[in-house]
Amino acid sequence: MGSYHRDGRVDAHLPHAVRDLLERSTLVIVSNRGPVEFHHTSDGELVTKRGTGGVITAMSAAARYADAIWVACAMTNADRACAERMRQQGAPFIELPDYPDFRLRFVVPDPEAYHGYYNRIANPLLWFLQHYLWDTPRAPDVDHRTWQAWHDGYVVVNRLFAEEVTAVAAASAREPIILLQDYHLYLAPAFIRERCPDLLLHHFVHIPWPDQDYWRLLPSEMRRAICEGLLANDIVGFQTPRHARSFLNTVDANLSDAEVDYRRWEVSFRGRTTRVGVYPISIDPELVRAVAASEDARRHEEHLQAYRNEFTILRVDRAEPSKNVVRGFLAYDRLLEAHPELIGRVNFLAFLVPTRLEVAEYINYLDEINAVVGRINAKYANAAQVEGIHWQPVHLFVGDDYPRALAAMKFYDVLLVNAIFDGMNLVAKEGALLNERDGVIVLSEGAGAYQQLGQWALTVSPTDIEGTAEALWRGLTMPAAERARRAELLRAHVLEHDLRRWLFDQLHDIAKRRSERQPQRLIAPSS
Ligand code: G6P
Repeated sequence: MGSYHRDGRVDAHLPHAVRDLLERSTLVIVSNRGPVEFHHTSDGELVTKRGTGGVITAMSAAARYADAIWVACAMTNADRACAERMRQQGAPFIELPDYPDFRLRFVVPDPEAYHGYYNRIANPLLWFLQHYLWDTPRAPDVDHRTWQAWHDGYVVVNRLFAEEVTAVAAASAREPIILLQDYHLYLAPAFIRERCPDLLLHHFVHIPWPDQDYWRLLPSEMRRAICEGLLANDIVGFQTPRHARSFLNTVDANLSDAEVDYRRWEVSFRGRTTRVGVYPISIDPELVRAVAASEDARRHEEHLQAYRNEFTILRVDRAEPSKNVVRGFLAYDRLLEAHPELIGRVNFLAFLVPTRLEVAEYINYLDEINAVVGRINAKYANAAQVEGIHWQPVHLFVGDDYPRALAAMKFYDVLLVNAIFDGMNLVAKEGALLNERDGVIVLSEGAGAYQQLGQWALTVSPTDIEGTAEALWRGLTMPAAERARRAELLRAHVLEHDLRRWLFDQLHDIAKRRSERQPQRLIAPSS
């Protein structure tokens, strides 16, 4: 990928409209999780660790192209200490010599507000809703604690973000372009707009946008506030056309004074127009290949050889209920039942990153995963002993080790991506890029990536354990020429539709929006 030079020169190879925009602007990236986390060492020293996740990777790439300021929430005690130190010193930003691409500014909510915002509303409520994860007769219960978390947590923290963003914008020497990320910040655009009517606001929603009927499970006050918040943006971006259309329907159903133009993908609301765009996120092939070729990854690759078998099935996921890990193992169990000839000849390697352990559903889900893996391993350990072989059908690797996961992607025969619903799923793209064995991808229709890669993968419906078992079998036994054909097309697609493209398509639309808005600004308001 190219880069921005601190002297203001922007990479000459960028598309013209994008280059022009970047030369004049400061990108203000706004996300809950920051690009770095601070931690205290045992002797009290402040050290940094890179933030994790797709949003950070994607927006770090954006920061490379322009003057960039990142506004994020202080999540650790050390983040808060660092923000406080910055405040005492009167410094506008945290500048980090190891991260020259951006300057950082923390939003510092009090811990209780943060808890309500993150652990009660954003993750268990919005994230679960947007992934259709509720067992609706039982959940969610929107009780007084939920409402309190909404008012004193979600609303409060979104206001704090808006204050921070407007302060950054006001102090900016160049034109600020505000890039808001994800479901934590649905209300912030409206709060920003109240203070700065002219700012260019762009919001990208990384997760699915469910059907408008499902949104009815949220009280109307909440869903209206969410729609109104998002409509304060100039552009709202989604991963797939289906999510974007769902958003238009949701707005139509909830805001009687909004005018939805389904042909132009625009909404007029309270005198402003919001455009809805589709930008499927992707990976940076150069970066992914570099990590996969690193010494660390090579060390893991060597070590992992011992876990391979004649056939290797792989999955790599955050340990989230939406990823459908348990059904994936049940399908594998079924595969072994239906095809006993595979006993002793196939290994399933699962790399899972634990996440959000403050939320009960996540802890329970990890327990369920461990239980099902234990059951399968115990069951087939006996079967293998009868045949006189030592064989463990599932190997579970729990922990956050990106180079190790990429190392494993090189040698799968089948990659299982059976998410129930997923915004995109970058694992499918990383696998397509790195795999060296013409491996087959078994891909859920519920993953955003399906819209792009589905035609070269084996399709599964996420609840269909039997169908998933069959797809695993088809993948393992697919003729070599067909595997090679599909693998080649998958790789070519990922190389062409990379992270740069995701970014530039958005910047291109922002530039267009900006040029359309400019004449309006020349008309001075009459006093
Ligand atoms: C998932 C979602 C992202 C989201 C992230 C937040 O990966 O797909 O859209 O931003 O979770 O994760 P965090 O660990 O920061 O709560």
